Amino acid sequence: MSFGQPFFKKGKQMETREIGKSGIRTNAIGLGCWAIGGGSWWGDNDDQMSIDTIHRAVDLGITWIDTARVYGFGHSEEVVGKALKGLRRDSVIISTKCALQWRNSEGEYHFSRDGHNVYRNLTPASIRKDLELSLTGMGLDYVDILFTHWQCREYGLVPVAETMGELIRMKQEGEIRAIGASNVDIRVLQDYVDVGQLDVIQEKLSILDRKPEATLLPFCEEHGISLQTYSPIEQGLLSGKIADDYIPAGGSVRDGKFWWKQENIPKVNQMLRGWADLTEKYNCTLTNLAVKWNSMLSPNIHVLCGARKISQIEDSARSLDIPMTQEDFLRMKHDADTLIAAMS
Ligand SMILES: NC(=O)c1ccc[n+]([C@@H]2O[C@H](COP(=O)([O-])OP(=O)(O)OC[C@H]3O[C@@H](n4cnc5c(N)ncnc54)[C@H](OP(=O)(O)O)[C@@H]3O)[C@@H](O)[C@H]2O)c1
Repeated sequence: MSFGQPFFKKGKQMETREIGKSGIRTNAIGLGCWAIGGGSWWGDNDDQMSIDTIHRAVDLGITWIDTARVYGFGHSEEVVGKALKGLRRDSVIISTKCALQWRNSEGEYHFSRDGHNVYRNLTPASIRKDLELSLTGMGLDYVDILFTHWQCREYGLVPVAETMGELIRMKQEGEIRAIGASNVDIRVLQDYVDVGQLDVIQEKLSILDRKPEATLLPFCEEHGISLQTYSPIEQGLLSGKIADDYIPAGGSVRDGKFWWKQENIPKVNQMLRGWADLTEKYNCTLTNLAVKWNSMLSPNIHVLCGARKISQIEDSARSLDIPMTQEDFLRMKHDADTLIAAMS
């Protein structure tokens, strides 16, 4: 499919948004480094290309680099650490995640992959150990934001007050600058807020999957918490580059995902074809439409775009420049809602 050539406005400053009440400001797009971790989720990568992609992102003003201990079982953090050697530490915002561990079988079983059994463990001692490993892995003495990656399966197994208490101590000691939580529900989110300042949550949100919109987003807006949205282009599907008959490799990151099912890809592509006039009007790509749409949902949103190639981050970086009208925003929402309704 061809949807128009990307545009680039020279000399335009990227829009910045504050991360919660942390005082940290960064532009509204971040670079996600899950794919950079490789392994059986994403397949192996050329690490030098990943490092170049991170450097290019920073050149473009995308300074929030997000990783996690579990991405590639330490490999993503290792690559981020190598990329950081070529950068001024204060020129980037680094977030990583704790609470998924595979060094022992303590905690609630989460999944197995690449020979590792991964457990959710939100105890103070375990998240402290996770942070220590992340700092060593990246060669840092602090991270800007530490997220708890997944919450207890059994509500209250580790009280949020204990986890949050440890995160606050890390912040007081200067090992982290802001506190985040990921994959929360409203009850757990309230528990965090009851203990102290949570600056950001990280949740899946694309135009085709908007669960946080109804309750988490209004709560965040009310409490001054940012929402960083992950998988905004549905892991590449909303870029329009996926053929109707594409079948994800067994065990890969897209395998079994709802919109990547064989019967659903053509329906998504049909919706995307309906936006050809928009890519023409804004002289942009479908990825730009998906990312810009995400950012327009709320000024509290930071959009987290995964990329492992320079061309991908160069494309995504242009998204916020699109002067998308409210009318077009609503039209895209209507089209997505129609597709979602037809599938349920
Ligand atoms: N907290 C959590 O539980 C959680 C869960 C998932 C993700 N995340 C975070 O969110 C980040 C983003 O999410 P995501 O990686 O799942 O999904 P995404 O951003 O929707 O998709 C990223 C993938 O789409 C493809 N792509 C990127 N830019 C493109 C472009 N301009 N044109 C065409 N294809 C493009 C690339 O895949 P190919 O190279 O294969 O084409 C890339 O790896 C992750 O990296 C991670 O940091 C967090």
